Amino acid sequence: MSDKENTQERIHKLRELINHHNYRYYVLDSPELSDVEYDELMQELRQMEAERPELVTPDSPTQRVGAQPLEAFGVVEHPLPLLSLANAFDYQELQAWHKRISGLLPGENWDFVAELKMDGLAVALVYEDGRFVSGATRGDGFRGEDISQNLRTIRSIPLALVDRDAPRRFEVRGEVFLTRSGFKKLNEERAAGGQPLFANPRNAAAGSVRQLDPRITAGRPLDIYIYGLGWAEGGAIPLTHWETMEFLKSLGFKINPHNRRLDALEEVEEYHRSWVEHRRELEYDTDGIVVKVNPLALHDRLGSVGREPRWAIAYKFPATQATTRLLDIQVNVGRTGSLNPFAILEPVHVGGVTLRQAALHNLDDIARKDIRRGDTVIVQRAGEVIPEVVGPVLSLRTGRELPVDEDREVLERFQTCPSCGARTIRPEDEVMYRCPNAACPAQAHRRLEHFVSRGAMDIEGVGTQLCAALLASGLVVDVADLYKLSKEQLLTLERMAEKSASNVLASIAASKDRPLARLLFALGILHVGDEMAQLLASHFCSLNRLAQATEEELNAIPGVGPKIAQSVVAFFRGESNKEILRKLKEVGVRMEDEAAAEARSLPLDGLEFVVTGRLAAFPRSQAEARIKELGGNVSDNVSRMTTYLVIGEGSGSKLERARALGTKILTEEEFLRLIQ
Ligand code: IVH
Repeated sequence: MSDKENTQERIHKLRELINHHNYRYYVLDSPELSDVEYDELMQELRQMEAERPELVTPDSPTQRVGAQPLEAFGVVEHPLPLLSLANAFDYQELQAWHKRISGLLPGENWDFVAELKMDGLAVALVYEDGRFVSGATRGDGFRGEDISQNLRTIRSIPLALVDRDAPRRFEVRGEVFLTRSGFKKLNEERAAGGQPLFANPRNAAAGSVRQLDPRITAGRPLDIYIYGLGWAEGGAIPLTHWETMEFLKSLGFKINPHNRRLDALEEVEEYHRSWVEHRRELEYDTDGIVVKVNPLALHDRLGSVGREPRWAIAYKFPATQATTRLLDIQVNVGRTGSLNPFAILEPVHVGGVTLRQAALHNLDDIARKDIRRGDTVIVQRAGEVIPEVVGPVLSLRTGRELPVDEDREVLERFQTCPSCGARTIRPEDEVMYRCPNAACPAQAHRRLEHFVSRGAMDIEGVGTQLCAALLASGLVVDVADLYKLSKEQLLTLERMAEKSASNVLASIAASKDRPLARLLFALGILHVGDEMAQLLASHFCSLNRLAQATEEELNAIPGVGPKIAQSVVAFFRGESNKEILRKLKEVGVRMEDEAAAEARSLPLDGLEFVVTGRLAAFPRSQAEARIKELGGNVSDNVSRMTTYLVIGEGSGSKLERARALGTKILTEEEFLRLIQ
């Protein structure tokens, strides 16, 4: 094939793909690609067409943007088109944009407004004489759909404006979105009702706004931020974007409180950087920031290129989603014996790393999301969380993929443990298959890895590979064997030198003195995470005491549920666990919490005090602090629970009540003697 034919074929393919995704996005409101991926396709096509202008045809997606609006809603012409934004993906590209516009505005100085780029759906709202009259989707930018009835149901859209000097007629623009919690709740309801789930909050918002029945829309927790003034007639408007936002806010519109007016491009960079770090703390999805030139007079002078204004740019966040092929579904074994399915992926770049595997939580979840081997899937990687498969791209199915509950080869993999071959079990109330073999090598490996890990015994220098080598050599069978290792034994392992062996032994020895909560967590008791371990440690202060606790006793502790109580009791009943604990004790691993044990034996432990009136020796607050230091409780009111009422000068009603209840009363002198 000649070069020319090759290029032509790729251009053709790209157009097909883009048209398809345009349709999904603009007509069906159900995009399959993230913005970033779509942008990449468009970029590739633009570039190829720029290199071969003779191949550009009028029907290329580069020559028009968007597809036909649905016929079911009325069509609205936008008097002023809703433009889109050019993208910058790094600081250099942002600087290049700044340089370009600076070149067009010689001698000018201006400031910026930086805003979050909401990942929702753009709408235009028209107001007349202070009232909401109509609202429309963006559509193809020139013509959208009349969704007034649905928009009326969004509570953050004002129907009547605060009485100020608003222009007689004007249009505002903003982004309708769903919060993450609203999205989660909506999907939970849909799952319960057996309806298909929305892939992300954006799809859910778009789907909700474009309901033909506004009553359905009204039931969806939609929200909006207004980010611009479109056109205005019959009234004055401010001279800058920032003041316009302030003005709109004063009229009753919802404006994002994170918007900032900034003077220098470095500050814009800092704003972006800070949101890359913190955006997951927001209640809604964002995919970048939007940087806008503040003075509106400059907007007119800068104008636009194609459908992108020069006065604004989207400065994107690193991608968190991508699509790729799911090559296989495999299974590994966790430390509690759970069989965890995971996806083998065709390698794909997401936000700077290459993904080859991703989590698939359990078989039920795979079936519910209808993820199949051979599917093109959306994968997601956000922050510190393990990358996961979000769902399949249905339109790219060939028809040969088997649903997982018919995929014998995959189902087989859940029937026996991939490590020891034991027949798995699936407890009635659980979604996980488990390997019941306590001596399963994979479980032993996971347990050892967990035991030495950072939040647990934190044994530096002992990682996954050393764990595997220790188990394989037979030097370590259970976690307690770590503490019996000798240098000579370590030196028999591959890649282990004098120095590193000494270091390993030192960090193992140091771990003997970890607080009880760490040890409890490290033991890997089913359902006992680090917080539960803390709770149990502070309650029992001793491993021995915890080991003797009954289910009832455990259940009575606030925060401990029956599942945890059961699993704790079962753990300490297990013969092999008893043996491990005996060995750990023998080698001198700490099993008591001295700090907490001390607290138990403090002099005022279990006593409740009320202090009233003015004390001579020190302020009341100091007296109360001292009581707490000594293990006592302090309360404001005298009750039957009160052990002592401490009276200073001018004690009133509390003294009367204490007398009525027969509470012991301490003078200041008596109190001082007690606390000494
Ligand atoms: S300003 C001409 N500001 O991003 C500038 N847009 O690709 C018009 N968006 O469809 C947009 N947050 O729906 C602007 N703070 C924000 C935005 C924002 C989200 C969306 C908007 C538009 C798309 C542009």
